[in-house]
Amino acid sequence: MIKELMKRVEELKRRRRAFVLAHNYQLPEVQAVADFVGDSLEMAFKAREVDADVIVVAGVRFMAETAKLLNPDRVVLHPEPRAGCPLASHMTPDIIKKFRENYPSAPLVTYVNSSVEAKALSDYVVTSASALKVISRLEDDLVLFGPDKNLAYFVETRTGKSLITVPPWGHCPVHEFLVSPYYLMKAKERMPQCMLLVHPEAPPESQRMADFVGSTSQMLRAVGEREAPCYILGTEEGLAHRARTLYPGKEIHAPDQRAVCIDMKKITLSNIARALETLKPKVEVDPAISKAAREAVERGLELAK
Ligand code: 13P
Ligand code: SF4
Repeated sequence: MIKELMKRVEELKRRRRAFVLAHNYQLPEVQAVADFVGDSLEMAFKAREVDADVIVVAGVRFMAETAKLLNPDRVVLHPEPRAGCPLASHMTPDIIKKFRENYPSAPLVTYVNSSVEAKALSDYVVTSASALKVISRLEDDLVLFGPDKNLAYFVETRTGKSLITVPPWGHCPVHEFLVSPYYLMKAKERMPQCMLLVHPEAPPESQRMADFVGSTSQMLRAVGEREAPCYILGTEEGLAHRARTLYPGKEIHAPDQRAVCIDMKKITLSNIARALETLKPKVEVDPAISKAAREAVERGLELAK
């Protein structure tokens, strides 16, 4: 069944001149039909350069919206529009306006895991791979940053700048509760010899326990470059599959099988095939805010180079 569906998707990709862009957390069979698999920053860079009539985004909604912002004239499909990111909804326009009023001279740097509305009100959009570089390049010492409080901690501790978190409670439920110090401690008890790599969306205590902290693709590169008897990837469990595919000779573990982003897993071979057959659901962004949002994304990508 999976093999037949994979074949069907490959045929449809050819027929539609389509390019499938997938995130590192996607299901193994979805990663297998993707033309590119990467982190949010790599997906955004790739979305700018693909030569295709149709882009299919296998990831959560903000990833599909970012691809559409960067490709306003192309068909961008998101096979399951209900695949959202709970972290993205923490930063509402009302909250942003309040913080902007309280800190009128501080730039607003927004994590890509956010709505188009939030991006349109921002100065720069960053990803977990680019936040550190972009924020250290700003002249300002006081920066508004949202919505992820743990990524703010990661940047703050490495740049010495003061980051005001917008809002102070924004978090990813998968990293906050399932890549918590408790689960990492349990994994280290079982596998004390393994190198521990952690995503910056994990809580500060988890980051402090880690041998390496970085975006999903930065973690993958670290596994490739660093010698260790085994590796624990402190993030969503799908990254372990990606790492095993890239480094078949290495022993790679997820800290706990419960660290699953159910939204990422809503993209399936069936809904990709359906999207390619029907050319629906298309991603549309409100033209009233798309220009401002695109410019904030472009400014972030420019500083990330
Ligand atoms: P990366 O950009 O590091 O892949 O992270 C995206 C994400 O949603 C992490 O939960
Ligand atoms: Fe959003 Fe967390 Fe899922 Fe990443 S893992 S898409 S931040 S809910």
